[in-house]
Amino acid sequence: MRVFIYSAHPYEQPFLEKEACQHEIVYTNQRLSLETASRAAGFEAIAIFTADDASAPVLEKLAAVGVRYIALRSVGHDHVDLAKAQALGIHIANVPEYSPYAVAEHAVAMLMVLNRKITESRLLLQLQDYRLDLLTGFDVHGKIVGIVGTGKIGMAFASIMHGFGAHILAFDPVQNPDASALQISYVPFDTLLQQSDIISIHCPLNEHTKYLFSWTAFNNMKPECILINTARGGVIHTKALLHALENDCISGACLDVYEHEKGIFFQDLRGQTMHDTLYTRLLALKKVLITGHQAFLTREALTGIARTTMQTIACWESGSPVPSELTTTIHQPLYSIK
Ligand code: NAI
Repeated sequence: MRVFIYSAHPYEQPFLEKEACQHEIVYTNQRLSLETASRAAGFEAIAIFTADDASAPVLEKLAAVGVRYIALRSVGHDHVDLAKAQALGIHIANVPEYSPYAVAEHAVAMLMVLNRKITESRLLLQLQDYRLDLLTGFDVHGKIVGIVGTGKIGMAFASIMHGFGAHILAFDPVQNPDASALQISYVPFDTLLQQSDIISIHCPLNEHTKYLFSWTAFNNMKPECILINTARGGVIHTKALLHALENDCISGACLDVYEHEKGIFFQDLRGQTMHDTLYTRLLALKKVLITGHQAFLTREALTGIARTTMQTIACWESGSPVPSELTTTIHQPLYSIK
């Protein structure tokens, strides 16, 4: 099948090429949007990433130029209007699992860099300032770690934290049967907020989790708490987070995702003025560590993403069932939180 790949970055192209098999691939580094949708004319299948816009008007345009299949090169599908796709007869599938370890290990890396002040240490060393006075961190051993979302990534993170000797609390409407092996205690969301020294977010962004970390949530957290978000920016109310950080309601934040990251992350913006003041204020804070949505970026994960994407398209081409096909019905919430 001919496949048009939006938001194709040099880091992933060798992996996509290797897994392409019989497919003919054409790349663009442009994001999918109303303006770029017509570029898919002549392609039955496209593959998109998290910064692409697959909202209703864009899907209409894609359908009009003959697109029938959209492979998401991501786990998250909060950027896709599934109901509209279904109504237009466009098939959508994600990559439900590639390497949960990639994301979990990045979350741990961010925690340790912030906690042990590795960034400051490097800067001081470059100045030949070997004093330790500004570099005191804390042991993770013995701390209470709260995990929001104990799916694949949340459990991989829990396993590492268990190895560190932390006590693990979790909040998830669906309890993971493997949680007891790591002595994870499921608690109400407010209890997790009140008791945790470290909180890591690993739930999807949907109507239940949008702004789960709200003004009220930050008021409930310990002042020494470090919040890690490698899930989706919209789970956190960013203005409330900034206020909480600036007023010492929490002690730090590790953010691989940001509510308004579209148009910032994945781009080369060198030399350009950054107009998003919420972002620049966060970036300026020493107690905040930001990475640009790179938690997935390991060779193993890129191989997994490329392989599943190409296999999905091959299944569509041959008429075989696609295990990771997304429909609105299976993604209706089966629960209510709190
Ligand atoms: P998963 O589907 O295995 O696990 C998600 C868990 O969240 C499930 O256990 C589910 O029950 C739980 N959940 C759903 N609603 C919840 C709520 N209201 N409160 C608490 N928990 C809730 O997904 P996986 O693979 O662990 O990925 C999690 C998220 O990580 C993805 O949805 C995606 O947004 C994000 N992600 C980020 C990446 C990055 O590079 N930063 C890469 C891959 C995924």
